[in-house]
Amino acid sequence: MAEFSLKGVNRVKNPENLTDLEKKHLPVIHVPEKVREGEPFSVEVAVGELLKHPNELSHYINWIALYDERYTFLGMATLAPVVSEPRVRFTITLDEPAALRAYAFCNLHGLWEGKRELRFG
Ligand SMILES: [Fe+2]
Repeated sequence: MAEFSLKGVNRVKNPENLTDLEKKHLPVIHVPEKVREGEPFSVEVAVGELLKHPNELSHYINWIALYDERYTFLGMATLAPVVSEPRVRFTITLDEPAALRAYAFCNLHGLWEGKRELRFG
């Protein structure tokens, strides 16, 4: 079985034991310890944090997008190879509690998803 698919979304199969390919492509979502409904907060999405992803003309992270758990679109950044690192900061405001999903697209290895719960209070 192939380690990744160009169709659909690639997700980590076993969070306790990531493959090198998963470590390179998983979008890792950083959020404040607590957030409040209706107040803006920063979300940083980094790809290749666990294991550096190549960043060259022939192999790079092309874009990073952020959604909530219901697939409400929150933002997107398009990245240039070589000169842009796959690390993006969004400032968002949620009007109700939701988890986050981040997507990263590698030109060779397709679409990858990372998730993050939020603590509201
Ligand atoms: Fe890749």
